Amino acid sequence: MPGDRVHQELFYADDEPVREVHHAEAGPSGPVSQVTVTLDGRSTTSALPRERTILEGAQQTRPDLPFACKGGVCGTCRALVTDGKADMRRNFALEPAEVDAGYVLTCQSFPVSDALTVDFDT
Ligand code: FES
Repeated sequence: MPGDRVHQELFYADDEPVREVHHAEAGPSGPVSQVTVTLDGRSTTSALPRERTILEGAQQTRPDLPFACKGGVCGTCRALVTDGKADMRRNFALEPAEVDAGYVLTCQSFPVSDALTVDFDT
């Protein structure tokens, strides 16, 4: 059966830690990326540590970013990478065509390149 004919619904994902999460007060201690997020037509750029997810890092300056499960299941945090590279660790929500088009789950993706731009409006 072709893969695009298979649909699955996931209501639970193991609470497997993706990586260690640091508190915001600690500040970046390792390499950072200049990450630009666009939501509702407004763009914000900040230096985010590469060991934190894009969502967790960017929420420090953009608390309005959309999310729900933070487990890679719901797809609420979906955004399009328009510049740079991100590393998505888990994905239970996006279709292969969306991933091929450049969409990531920002709650499961880490900045990789020196500069990264993600667009939540697409
Ligand atoms: S918040 Fe649910 S997949 Fe990211």
